[in-house]
This record gives sequence, C-alpha cells and structure tokens, in this order.
Amino acid sequence: MKEKIGEIKKLALELIEKAENSKELENLEIKFLGRKGELTRILRSLKDLAIEERREIGPLAQKLKKDIEEAISNKIQNTKYKIQNTRHRIDITKPGKKIAGGHIHPLNKIEKEIHDIFLSMNFSVVEGLEVETDYYNFDALNIPKDHPARDAWDTFWLKEVKCDMRQGNRGQKNMSHSTCRSLLRTHTSPMQIHYMETHQPPFQIIVPGRTFRYEATDASHETTFGQVEGLMVGEDVSLANFKFIIEKFLTKLFGEDVEFDFRPNYYPFVEPGVDVYMKWQNKELEVAGAGMVHPEVFRAVGYDPYKTQGFAFGFGLNRLAMIKYKIPDIRLFNSGDLRFIKQF
Ligand code: PHE
Repeated sequence: MKEKIGEIKKLALELIEKAENSKELENLEIKFLGRKGELTRILRSLKDLAIEERREIGPLAQKLKKDIEEAISNKIQNTKYKIQNTRHRIDITKPGKKIAGGHIHPLNKIEKEIHDIFLSMNFSVVEGLEVETDYYNFDALNIPKDHPARDAWDTFWLKEVKCDMRQGNRGQKNMSHSTCRSLLRTHTSPMQIHYMETHQPPFQIIVPGRTFRYEATDASHETTFGQVEGLMVGEDVSLANFKFIIEKFLTKLFGEDVEFDFRPNYYPFVEPGVDVYMKWQNKELEVAGAGMVHPEVFRAVGYDPYKTQGFAFGFGLNRLAMIKYKIPDIRLFNSGDLRFIKQF
C-alpha cells in the first residue's frame, strides 16, 4: 500500500508538471482526486485495514491528497502568471489612454442656445438654402435691380441659372422677370420671402444659417459667417413687441447685466429700420439689423400691407459668439485650427 501511494505520487506530480492547459489539469484532478480516482479508492479502503496499518497509511494518503491539490493550484497560478507576462503584458500601474472626444464648434454651440431660447418663446425654426437668386436676396426685399442699396451687400455671384430651373414651384407667381441670377445669399433675409410665400400669418420664426459676402477679411470681417433671421407677422405686431422679444432673448443668452439700445438705420426691407447695439462686460457691439417689415415686402409675397404688420431682425451669429465666448478675431471660426475648437 505504501508503495502504491509512492507510485501515485510520482505519477501525479509528473503529469501535473507536464500539463499544458487547464483542461488537462482538470482531467488530472478528476483522475486522482475524483470520486472514482485512485487515491479516493485508497482513502475509502482505509476502514478495512488493520488498525496499525491504518495509522501508518492514513496520514500518508491524506498527505498525498494535499500534495496533489497543491501541485495543481500552484501550476494554475504559475501558468496564469506566465501568460500575463509573455502574451498580454498588462502594466496595471500605467495611466490609461485618454479617449479623444469631439468638440462643438462655437457657432453651433451658440446656435443651439439661440434655438432653445426662441423655441421657449414659441418661435419655429426653419432653414433656407445657401444658394439663392437675386430675386429672393434683393428684389423681393425691396432692393430692385439698379438700386444703389445692392452695393451694401458685396455679393458672390454665381453663373447665370434660369430661375424656373432653380426655384421649383416656389414664388413663381411673383416672378415678373424671365431670368435672374444665382448668388450665395448675403443674408438670411431671403428666407422671409420664401416663408411668407408659403405660409399665412400669424407666425413667428427664426432662420439660422450661413451667409456669404465678397469682402476683404480682417479681425471683424469674414466672407463666410452666420446669421439668425427673425420674423414675426400678425395683425398688430408692433415695435414694442420686438423690443420685448429682443430684451428677453439677450438676457436669456447673456444674463441680466446685458444692456442694449436701438439706433436708427436704413434697410430697404424695413420701415422704420434700426440697429441693435448691446453692451456686456464693457464691450459694446452692433449685433443686429432690424425693423418693421416694409409694405413693399408684404406686397411682393401677396399679403395685404394694410392688414398685416410685423418685425424682422437679423443677428450676426459670429458677433454674438465673439462676445459670449470672448473670441478676439472672427477669422478663427473658419480657420480649422484645432487649438481653437478644442477650447469649446
Ligand atoms: N439682412 C440684414 C443684414 O444682413 C439685417 C436685417 C434683417 C435688417 C432683418 C433688418 C431686418 O444686414
């Protein structure tokens, strides 16, 4: 019996040492320690032995059981250690890799804020096209073909396109001319016309979007910039309503300490016309053109100017963002410089 135990021990330790994976180890464990294992059989037969023999063999067999268990668990530990150290070296003390998240462009950020503020005041948000015709960008806004006011908007003209090709069904009834020219919209105001041609008052909308002007760039002028047009039309919408909306809007965007005032200005599509100036944290800037919609504009879309009135405004998105986020140079917006974008 003693010899038998010695043999089992030798064999078991040898096989455990040679085992190459956990499946093999598991099989060895069953073979030696399992219910039908050889060692188990010996342990079970102890009770049939004479008392002296039992005293001698018993502890040996128990010790063997322990030895095998230990050998298996050591092997498991060592193998794990080896795998970690050779194949998937993981240094748990190393700092992790930072996930590089994207950033929201400041123009999108402020647009979203403006969007939410106007939605909370029951305005709808609509968008227009960046390529327009001179009819929508100028004529319908009371700036006829040879009007000197066209010079106020330095325009990127595109190749001549026949109007009926570009405009689909929209606005055909108001097209008194057979050809017109395409351009990159110089302001978001053409959307006033598109919207009024297809909707009846009362309504209130804002139109955020990109606009383009052909001009020399410097710290406060860009060829591509953003505007938010606003238009509220009804039977008795007044300049007082406009003042209220603008005050609410600016205080929601900048806080209670914002100051603003209106100064008269001329825009052909409003009467009277005003510019909105605001002052915030010691910075004063013109932020919008605005006014009461001109009767000629209502006529161009088929509204009766005696029964309709409303206000329109056009905020410079970049200007609002420059004030709010303290951006010193308008050219940064389109620079594509990640050092700039990553700050937002
Ligand atoms: N469209 C004008 C501009 O870009 C701003 C404006 C909008 C003025 C609406 C009056 C009314 O300069």
